[in-house]
Amino acid sequence: MRSNLFITILIFFLPFILFNSSEAARRVLVGGWTKITNVSDPKVVEIGKFAVDQHNKEAKASLKFSKVVSGERQVVAGMNYNLTITAANGSVENNYVVVVWDKPWVKNFRRLTSFKGPI
Ligand SMILES: *[C@@H]1O[C@H](CO)[C@@H](O)[C@H](O)[C@H]1NC(C)=O
Ligand SMILES: *[C@@H]1O[C@H](CO)[C@@H](O)[C@H](O)[C@H]1NC(C)=O
Ligand SMILES: *[C@@H]1O[C@H](CO)[C@@H](O)[C@H](O)[C@H]1NC(C)=O
Repeated sequence: MRSNLFITILIFFLPFILFNSSEAARRVLVGGWTKITNVSDPKVVEIGKFAVDQHNKEAKASLKFSKVVSGERQVVAGMNYNLTITAANGSVENNYVVVVWDKPWVKNFRRLTSFKGPI
């Protein structure tokens, strides 16, 4: 009898429990920045190159991507990358801090959110 009541109550509240935990999961997923341990990861390098290409288009500049120095990423709707990169401006190598928002499942969705430097 008691266990039937328990099950009835559980079934009644299950949608609320599931809803709340998915809300909680979403809050955990969005927010934290995780350090990028391998700056040679092809995906990370690709994002760094993209940031320079995009900046060149927007600012009519002609920087040349050299490498990713360090960075971190954050799960959002897709992934945010915050990278410190090295690029050559003519004969001078500088570091720049770039933020790129990438949604890998959407074709051609990749945005340069911020490009700062030289630092
Ligand atoms: C970093 O990534 C590159 C390219 O995928 C790989 O060759 C290299 O072994 C990786 N290094 C470490 C320390 O995992
Ligand atoms: C990106 O990283 C730089 C340097 O680590 C930091 O100063 C900056 O606040 C970060 N930007 C974002 C959007 O987290
Ligand atoms: C590149 O160098 C030129 C001077 O040669 C300077 O005016 C420009 O601001 C530099 N651009 C960047 C993004 O560092």
